[in-house]
Amino acid sequence: MSHRRMKRVLVTGALGQIGSELVEWLREKHGDGNVIASDKKDDPPAAIRDNDPFAALDVTDARALADLCRTHRIDTIYHLAAILSGVGEQKPDIAYHVNMNGLKNVLDVARDLEMARVMVPSSIAVFGPNAPKWNTPQECELRPASMYGVTKVAGELLCDYYWKKYGLEVRGVRYPGLISHKTPPGGGTTDYAVAIYYDAIRHGRYTCFVREDTVLPMMYMPDALRSLVELAGAPADRLRYRNAYNIAALSFSAGELAASIRDHVPGFEVSYEPDFHQQIAEGWPHSIDDSAAREDWGWAPEYDLERMTADMLAALRKRLNPVESHARGEG
Ligand code: NAD
Ligand code: SER
Repeated sequence: MSHRRMKRVLVTGALGQIGSELVEWLREKHGDGNVIASDKKDDPPAAIRDNDPFAALDVTDARALADLCRTHRIDTIYHLAAILSGVGEQKPDIAYHVNMNGLKNVLDVARDLEMARVMVPSSIAVFGPNAPKWNTPQECELRPASMYGVTKVAGELLCDYYWKKYGLEVRGVRYPGLISHKTPPGGGTTDYAVAIYYDAIRHGRYTCFVREDTVLPMMYMPDALRSLVELAGAPADRLRYRNAYNIAALSFSAGELAASIRDHVPGFEVSYEPDFHQQIAEGWPHSIDDSAAREDWGWAPEYDLERMTADMLAALRKRLNPVESHARGEG
């Protein structure tokens, strides 16, 4: 029998849109009891809580974080606790505190306990209004206009610093807007691209908070989870960018998204009432050049818009409308 030490993983922000699904992936990969889910919220659903450890943890509390990591002999952290762009623009002080001080606490404890890996998602929000809009390159001017974007750029630089100064293996991708059906998003600018599916099923109509011609890069959650896990396992000597890889899958306007849903929900109506999110969206790219991720660690998305829409609607119909979906033969 191998005496190699088992990987012990901590996920922060585990009750959010990404964490709630990533924890299940990681538990399948690393085995029962080896993936500790944590979040500031202390009300985990049964799927996260049952049989495996869950801890209420505020990442801005450095001592509590260090105690938890020592107790569970953590050697890898997936750091997902953050305040996203929409909420961050309304509460910039909190966004700065959580996104910067929370990240620094995570990097400090990982360095002090000589952890093997820290995975930290960045975002397309690092790009500002002056970056090229189409096929935005891996390397270009990063001067974002939102507080969220400011913390994401600073976070990338902080992660670089810990790698160069302490040799801490910190990796991450710049996620586009993520679309999923399990846990609603937590207050980002791209949340409309999720809410539109829920409202299509529940009400047959949706009021969108960005303009119809707003084009943003997006990705379906299975691709997003796979990207992070694949990057975590990529050979170190292949990585040129480490914590800030551009990754891409889809780019569409709000109107094109509505049309793809209308193919499955005849008569679906969308009206457009842009609010403060519009300005944030206008500072972001329309599409992303992810050639470095493809070359360095073999990144490739699997879902296009049609496949994602079919999957989203089938999953939501099953959950929100079980009787109707059974009648359609959707399980
Ligand atoms: P989310 O808002 O859905 O979840 C974040 C979680 O963090 C929430 O459960 C929240 O309770 C928790 N949290 C907030 N403050 C905390 C604190 N002080 N201590 C501990 N937990 C705290 O976010 P998400 O979509 O799952 O995003 C995870 C990461 O991915 C973030 O870094 C985010 O910037 C990045 N990202 C997400 C997207 C996306 O579209 N979802 C896109 C780009 C980047
Ligand atoms: N989906 C995220 C947001 O809108 C992008 O980082 O905040």
